[in-house]
Amino acid sequence: MTGRFSGQVAYVLGGGSDGPARSGESLPMGNGRAIAMRLSGEGATVVVGDKILERAQTTVAHLDGPGLSVEVDASDAASCAAAVAVAADFFGRLDIVVCNVGVSGREPLKVQSLEDWTFASDVNVRSHWLTAQAALPGMLDSGSGTFVFVGSTAGILSSRRSLSYEATKAAQLAVMRHVAVRYADRGIRSNAVVLGNIDSALVRREFGEDGSMARAQVVPMAREGRPEEAAAAVAFLASDDAAYITGQSLVVDGGVSAAWPVPRP
Ligand SMILES: NC(=O)c1ccc[n+]([C@@H]2O[C@H](COP(=O)([O-])OP(=O)(O)OC[C@H]3O[C@@H](n4cnc5c(N)ncnc54)[C@H](O)[C@@H]3O)[C@@H](O)[C@H]2O)c1
Repeated sequence: MTGRFSGQVAYVLGGGSDGPARSGESLPMGNGRAIAMRLSGEGATVVVGDKILERAQTTVAHLDGPGLSVEVDASDAASCAAAVAVAADFFGRLDIVVCNVGVSGREPLKVQSLEDWTFASDVNVRSHWLTAQAALPGMLDSGSGTFVFVGSTAGILSSRRSLSYEATKAAQLAVMRHVAVRYADRGIRSNAVVLGNIDSALVRREFGEDGSMARAQVVPMAREGRPEEAAAAVAFLASDDAAYITGQSLVVDGGVSAAWPVPRP
């Protein structure tokens, strides 16, 4: 690993992991956990925020360097800003903010409920702009800072499955672009990874491990992605290797969104 983030402090919202581990592994690996571990592996001090403190603590226990776990409920507006304040105060700076937390509804339009819509909106979008808003002043003061939002291909393509997920993931990309364009001339960058099928604890929890092969059927690369591959893309966007990239959505989907919708030969 390089030390691309040496001396920097990162905050990962939703940096625990919720769901079963992959076969043969003991540590459940989700995108947030993999991102925290990757940033740490490249030298960052990482603050891990999660609604279940124990999940954040487990991530911090697996970091390569210093870290801090923080309890935060993304569905609670005040909690989002408070967690950023803790993160920034504890280590005295905040250079990288990764808005990873996300919940997937499962309601198509016919049965879309207000409750599900509001909850998805609060967690998938509101928590992200509140987190960015809380982190922004310190970054503006220091003249640099980077945001990476963890999006989904559901924000650019419909899975037919969940209206609230698709709509909030699309809105999340709008938040990402706003931050990028508004503050680009003040040293702030903002980008998103748009993830396809990732073999994460989240997917295992919601859809089961058995569907893995079926999910891979629609992927030109013929396999699901791994949280570590999502994390590599996040690390790239957060790093100086992406110094002239802002306002962009990097699709990490094994080719799904580039493919004509016919089965692989
Ligand atoms: N796995 C995939 O295939 C896939 C595909 C596309 C996008 N994504 C995106 O990846 C992100 C999440 O991935 P993950 O693997 O880290 O998920 P995960 O379900 O493992 O969740 C990560 C952590 O978020 C925490 N969390 C849940 N609700 C919270 C809340 N209200 N406040 C604070 N923390 C909360 C959980 O406790 C968990 O520890 C989401 O934004 C999701 O939309 C995943």
